[in-house]
Amino acid sequence: MLQPIYVRKLTPKDANSVIYLENICFEYPLGEYTIHAYLNATNNISIGAFEGEQLVGALLCNFDSHEGHIVLVAVHPNYRRRGIAKTLLHTIEKYALEKLTRHLRLEVNIANTPAILLYRKLGYNAVSIINEYYENGDDAYLMIKQLL
Ligand SMILES: CC(C)(COP(=O)(O)OP(=O)(O)OC[C@H]1O[C@@H](n2cnc3c(N)ncnc32)[C@H](O)[C@@H]1OP(=O)(O)O)[C@@H](O)C(=O)NCCC(=O)NCCS
Repeated sequence: MLQPIYVRKLTPKDANSVIYLENICFEYPLGEYTIHAYLNATNNISIGAFEGEQLVGALLCNFDSHEGHIVLVAVHPNYRRRGIAKTLLHTIEKYALEKLTRHLRLEVNIANTPAILLYRKLGYNAVSIINEYYENGDDAYLMIKQLL
C-alpha cells in the first residue's frame, strides 16, 4: 500500500539516512563530515521528505542574516517526478520568509537539466556561471530567487 509522504525538519540523528541518500543521488557527494556539520549547525535548516521511516528526499540550507544558501537537494531515484523536491523548496522558502531572508541562492551543474528546469519553474534565475565549481572541473550556474 502506498504510504503518504510527509516532511519534517532533519536532526543530527538523521545523518546516516542523509549520507545514504546523498551517495545514491550524487557522483561527488558532500561527504559524511560535511553532512554531520550541516545537521549540527544552528544557523542551518534541514528538511526531509519521508515515506514511513525512510528518508526519500532532503534539502539542507544554511542561513546568514540576509541570505539562505541551499547546499543540497536530493530525491531518491524511485521517488522522482512526484513533486517532492518542489515541496521541499516551498517549505524552505516558508522558513526563509519567517526569518526575513531576502533571497535564496544555490549552485547547480550547468549540465544538470532536470535540476535547472526545477529551479527555473520555482522562480530561480541563473545570474552567473562559476567556472570549475565542482571537483571534476564542471561549471555551475549560480541561481538566485529573490524573496523580499
Ligand atoms: C533534481 C531533483 C532534486 C528533482 O526532484 P523531483 O522530486 O523529481 O522533482 P519534482 O517532482 O518536484 O519536479 C518539479 C518540476 O521540476 C521539473 N523537473 C524535475 N525533474 C525533471 C526532469 N527529470 N526532467 C524535466 N523536468 C524535471 C519539472 O518541471 C517538474 O514538474 P512536473 O513533474 O510537474 O513536470 C532530482 O532529480 C534529484 O535528486 N536529482 C539528483 C540530485 C540533484 O541533481 N540535485 C540537484 C543538485 S543542484
